[in-house]
Amino acid sequence: MDFTSPPAVIDGFRRIVEHGTFGYTWCFDEFYDAVIGFQRKRHQVEVEKSWITLTYGTVSTLHYTVQAFCKPGDSVMMNTPVYDPFAMAAQRQGVQVLANPLRVEDNRYQLDFNLIEEQLKTHRPTLWFFCSPHNPSGRIWRAEEIRQVSDLCQRYGTILVVDEVHAEHILDGKFVSCLTSGCAAQDNLIVLTSPNKAFNLGGLKTSYSMIPNDSLRQRFRQQLEKNSITSPNMFGYGELFWPINTVCHGSTR
Ligand SMILES: Cc1ncc(COP(=O)(O)O)c(C=O)c1O
Repeated sequence: MDFTSPPAVIDGFRRIVEHGTFGYTWCFDEFYDAVIGFQRKRHQVEVEKSWITLTYGTVSTLHYTVQAFCKPGDSVMMNTPVYDPFAMAAQRQGVQVLANPLRVEDNRYQLDFNLIEEQLKTHRPTLWFFCSPHNPSGRIWRAEEIRQVSDLCQRYGTILVVDEVHAEHILDGKFVSCLTSGCAAQDNLIVLTSPNKAFNLGGLKTSYSMIPNDSLRQRFRQQLEKNSITSPNMFGYGELFWPINTVCHGSTR
């Protein structure tokens, strides 16, 4: 993308540069507070600190999620057309793509719930990669649609993996996060997002997951640990997520 990041972000980077130390760092409480505050203010959802895990870009995280939960021969459902890396994340691990085409009706995409249920029943995919809002098209899913997606995942034992990176790109209408109370069941839900689209920070490879269920989260984190996804890129969350005072005065662990 070609737009300049907001002045507050650039100012934060300047202060990090002027501080002049670029060594290893850590996710201090301020990181979690910033995520919780952003999600509350921007999307009216209550996220608990324990749900949040730092990741190195949403696309990489889709790959790690497949590695954590699937074995070769399993399948991942996705609503096509969809952002290419969704399929790559599955195929690169020897996992099948279960494509579920969106229907075009009244000039907008619709989920084909009859076909979805048939496919879930027949193929029992391990994961459903759900793009919300959807890319391509920017289709914003309604709470009722998300609830239906979640109900189906519950019924067929599929983990719902929701990519919300376009949540801040709403030109018309209201984004509904899957974490909205009463929307999606929390025990089989993985939500992935990043500031990368809204603030044009993709090159800094900083993102995070929100996973309410303990055992799901543990399994996910084990996969990250296997790949040493631990300490953050100081610029990736320096000012956006983290008051600069902590960058300057916090110690590394
Ligand atoms: C649906 C979707 N997910 C993820 C990304 C990339 O996110 P990240 O930079 O956090 O890997 C994009 C970028 O266009 C996208 O459209």
